[in-house]
Amino acid sequence: MSRPAVRRALKRAGLSPAPKEFVTTPGIPPPRRTFLPGEAPGASTPVDWPSFFGRVAPVEIEIGSGRGRFLTDEAAARPATNFLGAEIEFEYARIAQARADRMTLTNVRFAPLDGRGFVLDRVSPGSLAALHVFFPDPWPKARHAKRRLFSPGFVKAAALALVPDGRLRVATDNLPYFESIREALDAEPALERVPGSEAGWSSGTDYERKYEKEGRPMARGIWRRRPGS
Ligand SMILES: C[S@@+](CC[C@H](N)C(=O)[O-])C[C@H]1O[C@@H](n2cnc3c(N)ncnc32)[C@H](O)[C@@H]1O
Repeated sequence: MSRPAVRRALKRAGLSPAPKEFVTTPGIPPPRRTFLPGEAPGASTPVDWPSFFGRVAPVEIEIGSGRGRFLTDEAAARPATNFLGAEIEFEYARIAQARADRMTLTNVRFAPLDGRGFVLDRVSPGSLAALHVFFPDPWPKARHAKRRLFSPGFVKAAALALVPDGRLRVATDNLPYFESIREALDAEPALERVPGSEAGWSSGTDYERKYEKEGRPMARGIWRRRPGS
């Protein structure tokens, strides 16, 4: 979203602009936050999900949850599951949380987090029922490739964060990026691709809806953690 679009979205949600230190400056990467609301900035221990959500239930994370459409829809449809939206842009996370609050959802929370750092440093192995990544920033220039979410370390940590048979779902319109994601996930011994998962489902995110209208080609896939891995 451009700055004016963010301002309009904040206004629609009845939110005042964020304090300056939380507003992203173009060209400067946002801070790599890995602490949840209510935690100290230096928090480094694995997240205690039952304490964070106030109940014991399966946990699913979406990285790059944008304005929160996918997770709020999921949370409304599946009240027995807890959902966390990890969104690096502070204001998008606020807008998404306001949407969840308007829908009076208590099983979904959005936080300004660097999803990669959070999964690497704060999520215990075997603690997620699913991880969703839809339309991750593609960083197409070679010199920016290191900013991509799907680094080798992230792939391993994401695979191990899942419970056995837990799902990692990916969609993107950037077909070369999808190829590299597919190769990395297929090469991860703890994962296997779900047969037929390249078609027949849709994330329903804002980006996906927009690209569907434009008739843009998209690629999708679902991997699962191999039981016994
Ligand atoms: C292209 S948008 C897609 C938004 C949403 N998933 C959708 O499909 O409508 C990518 C989103 O990922 C967020 N993002 C980028 N890097 C991130 C990171 N390391 N951790 C969390 N969110 C990130 C961006 O701020 C942006 O909201």
